[in-house]
Amino acid sequence: MTLTPTSFSPAAAPAAAPPPPALIQLREVEKTYAGRTGTGAVTALHTITLDVPKGAILGVIGRSGAGKSTLIRLVNGLERPTRGQVIVDGTDISALDERALRHERRSIGMIFQHFNLLARRTAYDNVALPLEIAGVSSAAIKNKVMPLLDLVGLADKARRYPAELSGGQKQRVGIARALATDPKVLLSDEATSALDPETTEQILALLRQVNAELDLTILLITHEMSVIKAVTDRVAVIDGGRIVEEGPTFDLFTRPQHPTTRSFVSSITGNELPAHLASRLSAQPLAGSQVLVRLTFTGGDASQPFLSVLTRKLNIDLGIIQGNVDYIGGHPFGTLVVSTPADQAHLQALTDASRELGLQVEVLGYVA
Ligand SMILES: Nc1ncnc2c1ncn2[C@@H]1O[C@H](COP(=O)(O)OP(=O)(O)OP(=O)(O)O)[C@@H](O)[C@H]1O
Ligand SMILES: [Mg+2]
Repeated sequence: MTLTPTSFSPAAAPAAAPPPPALIQLREVEKTYAGRTGTGAVTALHTITLDVPKGAILGVIGRSGAGKSTLIRLVNGLERPTRGQVIVDGTDISALDERALRHERRSIGMIFQHFNLLARRTAYDNVALPLEIAGVSSAAIKNKVMPLLDLVGLADKARRYPAELSGGQKQRVGIARALATDPKVLLSDEATSALDPETTEQILALLRQVNAELDLTILLITHEMSVIKAVTDRVAVIDGGRIVEEGPTFDLFTRPQHPTTRSFVSSITGNELPAHLASRLSAQPLAGSQVLVRLTFTGGDASQPFLSVLTRKLNIDLGIIQGNVDYIGGHPFGTLVVSTPADQAHLQALTDASRELGLQVEVLGYVA
């Protein structure tokens, strides 16, 4: 047998499987609200392109008026885009007629800031409502509702009315109701904004639980970085109707690029200097001044004793001005602001040695 030359070439590496298409895809979506008589049209969203991978929890953070609610309302078809496409699990939501849309909405659950429960219905009957609308038999409804109330920790509150429940309990009913029709997607519009921090943490833990147990894709919008930090895998920052930055949550926290992202991040990491120091900060060294340097460590071995390594290696004194260690998705992320005498050789040595240890270095300024 003769071997053709091609027989000797190494087998081509199997092409990496392409990632599955995102469960929610926004493609160059624009939304302009026609103004009422006498008011101009408002473009709430400009050319938004965004993917929410299947099984992910993606957070969209933005300030009031940035376009968050508009974005989420496009995903369940409550609003239609002026341009572009909104695709959920392969279906172009923006192209459906009302009837098809009603059917599609069963696979898109939603929870709200003010819960939107019906006051005259018990917890049980609120959760049953989407099933009644879908024409499910009462026996099948019972088999569905009780396990859901159990899942959200409210099996003993089935016969209670919303007025008899706390905010956190009402949101649990909201979550059970949203899950009643076995959705692929859960949309959350500021679902924890009306809750205290402890209850917020419990509701976010419940969202993480249903995400993992039901393989539910979650798109949540919020104006709070603490919510993003606690629960999301990915985050998109929206500003003036545009997504200005998007990526894995850890990356956005540790290497924010856009000024809006930076300002959200410093709202939570304690990255801002105390006001009394910030106001004394000068951009130029003064006689006998100290330089303030922010060292940031991300991932890797955050427990390494880098302060003592630096002081020993450089034989310098470092004062600690401010410090913080946090965990995002289980990865350590910390900042330390140190002060040291402001001479150029000194500063260069500190910068070089810090970078060698894998720290990010940022000179904040000088204080007398
Ligand atoms: N139905 C509407 N008609 C006209 N303009 C609207 C309508 N809904 C929203 N807008 C405008 O679109 C922009 C974005 O509004 P949107 O409600 O999406 O913001 P948001 O980020 O959810 O704000 P918030 O955090 O305050 O809820 C705002 O300028 C708002 O005034
Ligand atoms: Mg809103």
